Amino acid sequence: MTSQKVREQFLSFFKSKEHRIVPSAPMVIKDDPTLMFTNAGMNQFKEFFLGNSTPKHQRVADTQKCLRVSGKHNDLEEVGKDTYHHTMFEMLGNWSFGDYFKKEAITWAWELLTEVYGINKDRLYVSVFEGSDDADKLEMDKEAFDLWKAIVPEDRIIMGDKKDNFWEMGDQGPCGPCSEIHVDIRPDAERKKVIGASLINQDHPLVVEIWNLVFIQYNRKANGKLEDLPEKHIDTGMGFERLCMVLQGVHSNYDTDIFTPLIREIETITNKRYGKDQATDVAIRVVADHVRAVAFSIADGQLPSNTGAGYVIRRILRRAIRYGFTFLDTNKPFIHRLVNVLGEQMGTAFPELKKQHQLIENVIKEEEHSFLGTLEQGLVLLDSIIKSAKSKTIDGQKAFELYDTFGFPIDLTALILEEKGYDLDVEGFEKALQEQKDRSRSASEISKADWTVLMTDTEQEFVGYDMLEADIRLVKYRKVTSKKEGEQYQMVFNLTPFYAEGGGQVGDKGYLEAQNGDVIYIVDTKRENNEIVHFSESLPKEKSGIFKAVVDKKQRQRTAANHTATHLLHQALREILGDHVEQKGSAVHSKYLRFDFSHFSKVTTEQLREVENFVNARIEGQLPLQEQRSIPMKEALAEGAMALFGEKYGDTVRTVRFGQSIELCGGTHVKNTGDIWHFKIVSEGAVAAGIRRIEAITSDAVKDFYFENNRKLFEIKDLLGKSQDPVKAVTALQEENAQLKKQVESLLKDKAKNLKGDLLNEFEEVNGINFLAKKVDLDAGGMKDLAFEIGNTKENVFLLFGAEKEGKALLACYISKNLVGEKELNAGTIVRELGKYIQGGGGGQPFFATAGGKNPAGIQEALKEAKKYIK
Ligand code: ALA
Repeated sequence: MTSQKVREQFLSFFKSKEHRIVPSAPMVIKDDPTLMFTNAGMNQFKEFFLGNSTPKHQRVADTQKCLRVSGKHNDLEEVGKDTYHHTMFEMLGNWSFGDYFKKEAITWAWELLTEVYGINKDRLYVSVFEGSDDADKLEMDKEAFDLWKAIVPEDRIIMGDKKDNFWEMGDQGPCGPCSEIHVDIRPDAERKKVIGASLINQDHPLVVEIWNLVFIQYNRKANGKLEDLPEKHIDTGMGFERLCMVLQGVHSNYDTDIFTPLIREIETITNKRYGKDQATDVAIRVVADHVRAVAFSIADGQLPSNTGAGYVIRRILRRAIRYGFTFLDTNKPFIHRLVNVLGEQMGTAFPELKKQHQLIENVIKEEEHSFLGTLEQGLVLLDSIIKSAKSKTIDGQKAFELYDTFGFPIDLTALILEEKGYDLDVEGFEKALQEQKDRSRSASEISKADWTVLMTDTEQEFVGYDMLEADIRLVKYRKVTSKKEGEQYQMVFNLTPFYAEGGGQVGDKGYLEAQNGDVIYIVDTKRENNEIVHFSESLPKEKSGIFKAVVDKKQRQRTAANHTATHLLHQALREILGDHVEQKGSAVHSKYLRFDFSHFSKVTTEQLREVENFVNARIEGQLPLQEQRSIPMKEALAEGAMALFGEKYGDTVRTVRFGQSIELCGGTHVKNTGDIWHFKIVSEGAVAAGIRRIEAITSDAVKDFYFENNRKLFEIKDLLGKSQDPVKAVTALQEENAQLKKQVESLLKDKAKNLKGDLLNEFEEVNGINFLAKKVDLDAGGMKDLAFEIGNTKENVFLLFGAEKEGKALLACYISKNLVGEKELNAGTIVRELGKYIQGGGGGQPFFATAGGKNPAGIQEALKEAKKYIK
């Protein structure tokens, strides 16, 4: 039975039991702070179980894309090593929201498995919750036990503890006792020897759980207590890949038609065979599994990145890349080439794979490319660390340097060391990491005096959306001292027009005017524990009484223009580049704005012009600000507001709309897009694989930009001679320059030829070796070319060149290959040793190596020392 058919039969079976078939929810979760990825079919129905919202249908079934790589359910490290765990997998499920309960759930599960799918009853076992006498004090699930007893012989019912038979979504949320169904697919002979019951939940690859029936009746609260739910529900989850393994009569999930096309493709690309040796098999399974997880995440809009869910995805992909690199000898990107096959295999059930095929392929390829670079560099360094190790335990400090300087993942270091029979000094690593954290903390350490409180019972109000001036009172103040800012004062007022830094936007500046005319400048505004804190360099003499607070209007207007422009830019990018564009960070200053977003290739000049035009059209369109200060989150999302992944929002939110652009945002904005005056992109570039950055300016800054450019242009014209067209003049200069370069190169070649002739006469014979050590007037490339040319003309050569270039010293050593073998001479070792005379280091191969140093005065001495190596 094909996997396609297995899926269809599941859904049609539950349809016949009056279930509504629904689509899979996205695998990447964007609006639940407790969960990054869907880890079970029931996630999307959480609110129904808790009674917070009412479902349209009380019976539902689906197949859900799940990912178990973080949090409570994390299988990542198992994946590949065994044959039945996955990062991404499909969970077939049926649900009852306050409708049927244990009886139907149990009976139908049995009917589907044994009658529809025809699994031999003798191979099935079930488990029942035995109760717990811990703080939860739960009773044995007698009801489930009795229901099963009516269907299966008692010796096939296993009692299970909380770990296996009480299912919880996470640390909080709906939960309840469960009954698992296990299948024993071992050959008959083995089944006769050892009974299946003894192998349940023992990690046997052929005695595995396939279906979990959860009887949801509690809510685990944040304080750890269980609370009865108003209604009882059914939540079931069947491992689709495992079910296919059973029905297709194979002994590994990877031998089902879900994986074999991927594995065949990996074999073709890498020229390796699956099923021949253990290490290769694990690597192939890792790649086949991980490409699915990564592809599905990207299709759901989650690109690899350095934080949050994106980082999890990056790590999964990097795990696959490393397994490929180490065990499949792939040193070029290849995983992206599997996306096609995956699309063919899964595209019918999950059309998003086909639709976003190109994006997925590009993102994976770019990640592969950049990580392979890191990997190669890191492996070389790790190798030299291993070689110079004095024991079998590798210094944690060294591993830390590798991690800190080269971004080489510590788990990979540990894995490689393990494979080579070395240990990692984990404590040393942790210590180095901690020290670094402490260092950066002490650099930012701030000492704060206690608050002097002048008014209590005040509730602070931000009035800065509507006004830039207000009469305010000082509630409390204190002195703070930091290395970075020196001595400063912090003040909290009863109300304030000052915007506190947040949502990427800088804090307001301005001043306070006391009644006696004293002026105190506010240099920054930040939020701390829900209070708006104002920073100043001094305190008012008279602290009670009313102050006039005045926000720096110019800065605020420019910042607001940049903030609104950021929203329009976001809209433009999604419109022009596509829906995969997601905000990954932003900085809104008065002078410029910066916007990071997910996108897989360079934004072309034409696209940038289009984006500029899009934004400027909306500026010219004079769109008014429409804001809603406090509406329920759900309503805002229903209106189409863009929410940011990873951002924390309250129950009620503020929405900011300009025309079709609508975002959840707490920042300050212009009243009308016309106030932005003009929008200009000044740079576009990559921040990480798949993440681009645009910097742009608006209003006054655009005028300055054009003035400055104009000034430069006039300067250039002056330099070129006023009468000339600057473009033509520069083109002519470039052509002339190219010509001159060619001439210089050919002159240098002639010079080298002459030099070669001269040098060939200067060799002396020492112990049968043609020896020469000499200072030459060449750069590193020139020395190398010359050394190899001499080596091609002359035999038995030991040659050392020294040179001085731009105040630096260079050494190059060439040794004929026969001498490397016979006399055991090694150019690498020699330049490293001689490097000390020029205060530097180097290395290379036994027959050619170079060193660089900062002491040209030592060149002569190094040359003098060379002879000792052949004496
Ligand atoms: N939610 C249950 C599980 O994931 C069915 O096992």
